[in-house]
Amino acid sequence: MFSRIVGTGSHLPSRCVSNADLEKMVDTSDEWIRTRTGIKTRYLLGDDESNLDLAEGAVRNAMEMAGVGPDEVDLIIVGTTTPEQVFPNMGCLLQQRLDIHDCPAFSLEAACTGFVYALSVADMFIKTGGAKCAVVVGSETLSSIVDWTDRQTCVLFGDGAGAVVLKPSEEPGILSTHLSADGKYGDLLYVSSGVSKGFEGSESNRDYVQMRGNDVFKVAVRTLGKIAQIALDHNDMSTDELTWLVPHQANIRIIQAAAKKLSMPMEKVIQTVQDHGNTSAASVPLALDTGVRDGRIKRGDTLLLEAFGGGFTWGSALIKY
Ligand code: UT7
Repeated sequence: MFSRIVGTGSHLPSRCVSNADLEKMVDTSDEWIRTRTGIKTRYLLGDDESNLDLAEGAVRNAMEMAGVGPDEVDLIIVGTTTPEQVFPNMGCLLQQRLDIHDCPAFSLEAACTGFVYALSVADMFIKTGGAKCAVVVGSETLSSIVDWTDRQTCVLFGDGAGAVVLKPSEEPGILSTHLSADGKYGDLLYVSSGVSKGFEGSESNRDYVQMRGNDVFKVAVRTLGKIAQIALDHNDMSTDELTWLVPHQANIRIIQAAAKKLSMPMEKVIQTVQDHGNTSAASVPLALDTGVRDGRIKRGDTLLLEAFGGGFTWGSALIKY
């Protein structure tokens, strides 16, 4: 028994922010951002939008593509580091919005790897008969935890959500998932504020995303190369058999380096970082949905999804689409 993706969806907030817009906010330039990261635009939450709105939009799109109604869904997992509230968790809030009832609904936190973690957990539920129709979401509003006066981080991130619907199938679907993490890298990328520390901090001492960019870059390239090879070896496959690489969209130079390590031509890599920036847990499902909806990703294609993020966490999913 396999779990198979029967629908994909995504949703972006309304406010498109260009590099030229950021030039008016911090000491940066379109040229620096494009050449160092590949990013041209990102979408940020408007005043009347929230992470839950993004997640809901992405799931509705995925359910529509799958032809699945609320009564069929029996599992909801949301990967997010920017949840709407402390509790109910994002899964339950989404469940209520979608009029889905009486099924497990939860969120998990693995930074940019959140969607791949959630996909792996849902795959195990389906393969073991614990669920028959799972909704898996990566949804983030990193804009809410970025210091908009810090040029080293604020130019990198965007908001968004992506989702898939999974169902059991005797035909191959998700062939394997591999998850890992190593907390020893925790001080390279983090937000030190937390719910358990209370909310008494004023705006001036609230903490934001802190990153040692160069160090993160090196570990990301090394790790993404390694996990791609692990996924291929596990399935006794070679790079030639992959139709598409769907990597985490943090920086075009990281994507290029990881593709090069894998000997994967860039024409076979789904790239959305230029349009969306780094949307953390949403980046892989957003890229997947983009490739599906513009017709590049077709039924029967072999896809390698891979992600890397704060923790550090990392993971892959090798999929027959
Ligand atoms: O999603 C989770 C994982 N996150 C990532 O994968 C991010 C990984 N890291 C990166 O993508 C890159 O390291 C960055 C894009 C964050 C930075 O690129 P870099 O090529 O490593 O630049 P750098 O940090 O070495 O900075 C080079 C210069 C510095 O100036 P000096 O010291 O050479 O004078 C920075 O102060 O660029 C300066 N700089 C900027 N200049 C204009 C840093 N940010 C900016 C900016 N605009 N926004």
